[in-house]
Amino acid sequence: MENQAKIIEETKAYVKERLGMEGSGHDYWHVIRVYNNALHIADKEKEADVFVVALAALLHDIADHKFGYSDGDRQTIITNFLSKYALEERIINQVVDIANSISFKKGQNDSKVLSLEGQIVQDADRLDAIGAIGIARAFSFGGHFNRLIYDPSKESSDDTISHFYEKLLLLKDRMNTKTGRSLAEKRHLYMADFLKQFYKEWQAEK
Ligand code: ADP
Ligand code: NI
Repeated sequence: MENQAKIIEETKAYVKERLGMEGSGHDYWHVIRVYNNALHIADKEKEADVFVVALAALLHDIADHKFGYSDGDRQTIITNFLSKYALEERIINQVVDIANSISFKKGQNDSKVLSLEGQIVQDADRLDAIGAIGIARAFSFGGHFNRLIYDPSKESSDDTISHFYEKLLLLKDRMNTKTGRSLAEKRHLYMADFLKQFYKEWQAEK
């Protein structure tokens, strides 16, 4: 499938140009990590359409709602980009659907029924929010928005450590696939260890 490989390469270049190196956690390398996680999960989960998984992983953060784009905008942008290839409409629709569905969006998407491909991309995206990478991204996000790393007085409600309890530590129980769940367990334990050590050091304990 030489043509598919070419489309993937061109999609990577397109994403790199559009997302670049932005600092709030949706940079090009986030997308590449999600893509790699997704291919790894798809490989284990067998039945998935790997081409759809690959395209959806690469395009999942294009025109994110956080930057003011609607589901309709995202549909237009993805369809415009993919329409230069002779792809079945089914593939384009699946990719658009996945990009529109997987964001956490404060849980409002939890009730959406995802295709297997969507479940894989969502797991891959969630994996990148936990573990060592997740810790790095959380503090990078906090710095970007001028947040405290931790505020034990709770005068500021949006310190970055709070984000672990509001979201990151909940993700392991929200994984869709067996492979995703098992990877998430390991990353979760690493975050739990990190927090233990963080509080120890905060108290000046050895
Ligand atoms: P998604 O890719 O699902 O849209 P987000 O945009 O919510 O995820 O988050 C992007 C990255 O920034 C993630 O690693 C996430 O944990 C981190 N992040 C989001 N909100 C916060 C926050 N309030 N404090 C610290 N990190 C955050
Ligand atoms: Ni993402």
